[in-house]
This record gives sequence, C-alpha cells and structure tokens, in this order.
Amino acid sequence: MITIGIIGSGAMGAGIAQVVATAGHQVRLLDQNAAALSNATASIGASLHKLAEKGKLTTEAAEAAIARLHPTASMAAFADCGLVIEAIVEDLAVKQQAFKQVEAIVSAGCVLASNTSSLSITSIAAACQRPERFVGIHFFNPAPLMQLVEIIPAVQTRAGLANEIRDLVAGWGKRPVLAQDTPGFIVNRVARPFYGEAIRILEEGIADIATIDWALTELGGFRMGPFALMDFIGHDVNYRVTESVFTAFFYDPRYRPSFTQRRLFEAGYYGRKAGRGFYDYAPGASQPAPTRDPALGQRIVQRVVAMLINEAAEALHLRVASAADLELAMTTGVNYPQGLLAWADELGPAQVLATLDGLYHDYHEDRYRASVLLRRLATAHQLFLSA
Ligand code: NAI
Repeated sequence: MITIGIIGSGAMGAGIAQVVATAGHQVRLLDQNAAALSNATASIGASLHKLAEKGKLTTEAAEAAIARLHPTASMAAFADCGLVIEAIVEDLAVKQQAFKQVEAIVSAGCVLASNTSSLSITSIAAACQRPERFVGIHFFNPAPLMQLVEIIPAVQTRAGLANEIRDLVAGWGKRPVLAQDTPGFIVNRVARPFYGEAIRILEEGIADIATIDWALTELGGFRMGPFALMDFIGHDVNYRVTESVFTAFFYDPRYRPSFTQRRLFEAGYYGRKAGRGFYDYAPGASQPAPTRDPALGQRIVQRVVAMLINEAAEALHLRVASAADLELAMTTGVNYPQGLLAWADELGPAQVLATLDGLYHDYHEDRYRASVLLRRLATAHQLFLSA
C-alpha cells in the first residue's frame, strides 16, 4: 500500500488523514503551524477512539490507524509517498508554491492532488514540473463521515490517472464520482439554486425564511431548509463559494450572489457560529413560525426544485459528469432526497420545463433560461435516466 502525504492539518487535512490511515495507508501529515498539527493528531486519535467505543471499529483497528499516522514538521518526510494530497489555505499562489516544494522531494511516480473547492485543478497543476500526475480529489466536510469524493482530472492529467484514483478512493469505502474541471465541480455548482433561488423568493416577499425552510423540508423532503443550512455552513463560507462560482463562470447571471447574503457576510452575521445569521441563535431568542400554507409551499418547492433540476440538466448536457455520478453526488454530497434527474423524471421533464419557462416569461431574466437538454427531452417526451 502506498504511503500518503497530506499537507495541511486543518478541518479537511485531519479528516482525510483519518480516512486514509483507517484504510491502511501510512500517513505523513504536515502543517506549517505546529499547534494545528498537534490539535489534528489529538482530534484524529479522539475520533478513532470514539468510533471504537461505538463499536464501529475494533480497538485494535483504531490503534493500528493511529500508529500509521506520522505528524511531521518537514516535507522531507514525503520522500517515500506515492500520493500527496494538499488541503491548505484556498490561495492559488500558496498552493502552487507548496507543490513546487513537494515536487523537489517526491519521486517521479508520486501522484499529486489538491482538495481545493473553488480553484481550477488545471491552474494548480500548471505550476508543476510534471502536471500530468496532478488530479483533484475533493472531499466533503467532515471527510470521515461524508461518502462523496469528487475526482477531477486537470487538462494536463495523464489519461487513466483519474480512474486509478477513483478505484483507490473507492477502496477507502468512499463513493467517488468523476467531474470535469469546471467551477464548483458537481455539488458546489448544481446546489447553487438551493440557496440563490430561496433568497430570491425571500427578497421578493413571496414568503419568509421560516416558511421557505418549512416548505423545502416538510414538502420538498430536504433535510434542512436553505436558510437553516446557510446559517449552518456559515455565510463567510457559503457567500464566498457563491461569489467565486459566479466569478469563475464569467459572471453568468444564473449564479449571481444576492445583496441579502452579501450584507449578512459584511455584518459578520455568519450564522450559527456567530450567534446570528438569517435566524437568531441567542439563547432564548424567539424563532419565526412558518405560514403553513400548502399551496404557497408547493409553489416554492416547485420553483427551487425546477432550478436545481435545470442545473443538473445543464451539467449533464455540458458533460460535467455522467448522469449516474450527478445523481450520486447530490444524494451523498448534500443528502438530497433523490437525484435531481430522477426527480425530473418523476415530475416529468415537460412539467419542469413549464415551471422554468413560466419564470422566464415573468422575469425575462437569463437566470431562468432552461437547459436545452431539458427542452429536448420534454419536447420528445423522453426521460433523463432512460435517455
Ligand atoms: P483550515 O484553515 O481548517 O486548514 C488549513 C491548514 O493548512 C491550517 O492548519 C494551516 O496552518 C495549514 N497551512 C496553510 N498554508 C500551509 C502551507 N503552505 N504549508 C503547510 N500548511 C499550511 O482549512 P480547511 O477547511 O481544512 O480547507 C483546506 C482546503 O480544503 C481548502 O483548499 C478548502 O477550500 C478545501 N475544502 C474545504 C472544505 C470545508 O468544508 N472546510 C470542504 C472541501 C474542501
């Protein structure tokens, strides 16, 4: 089994280290911050012990995984690695510099990977001497719990490498999917309307946050409503992702951020962790009650789900991912109640198209333009998953 190097022992690096150590790899974990490294080592140990207590892992397996974890302050320890995964700060120049250092140490056969959420894999690979061995391996937070891993070949990645990494990641008990190197990969692209369209409905005064959250959870079947979820993720993170996807798509209006969330971000109302976001988390704060109007609720769900389906349809049309991988990504990466293409088939592509065309007719905004694939299937009375 190859030895795996991990740069960055923050939330993601520590989680990834736990995953690969549990899977049987020797792990070299590096961080420039000694405190972050010792915190990560302690938290991985605690987390593995907890899993053993819960009976999810034998005590021997937990101890063996801990013994395979080697924190290091020097990159020289990466010399014997067959794969190095980077999970440091989300800054292109800093990541490129880190890979230059890695390449000076590892062997020519060592695969290099980034866990970036928002930078192009191609742009990081471009700084490498051997960009053909570079690939994106995008985990979800928390990495030990989340099944989904997006594998993203760069333009320079050698043929076959993404599939080899897919098999490797599957061997760790994860559900890998292949995604093109386009902004947001699969999940962070396709999920955008869940937030953006919900905010738009709020801004227009169609419904309040509690009602929109109620509709999408109770009637839509989503685990969390968009406002509760944005508060949970944090507006510092969620707003930044929205903004970076919008910019990376050359300002396609479909991904335009909202002033509402921008202001929360500016105010530092980041959500749960700040005690305030869309909701007030102060102890004893009263929570808004939803208007449980089924007709209004259904309209909200119909609109948000149609926008999500449209994103999935467009991603399929542009070959960002296969239909099967799109479905797997949205059900395992963000726990949607069902895949969006299956959902489209259940509602009927013609029905979804009618919702989008109705919005487009009302607003005359490019944001509501329907994917040509959706239109073709609707017109031909075909379904996505049997198409
Ligand atoms: P974090 O801030 O928790 O951890 C980053 C760690 O990298 C810190 O401990 C820092 O000391 C260390 N570091 C920074 N520059 C370094 C360098 N040059 N050499 C060595 N160590 C360095 O960040 P987090 O959340 O773990 O994110 C890491 C990466 O993973 C980012 O690219 C982020 O976009 C991506 N990501 C984050 C997700 C999340 O939900 N937090 C989900 C998926 C990907």
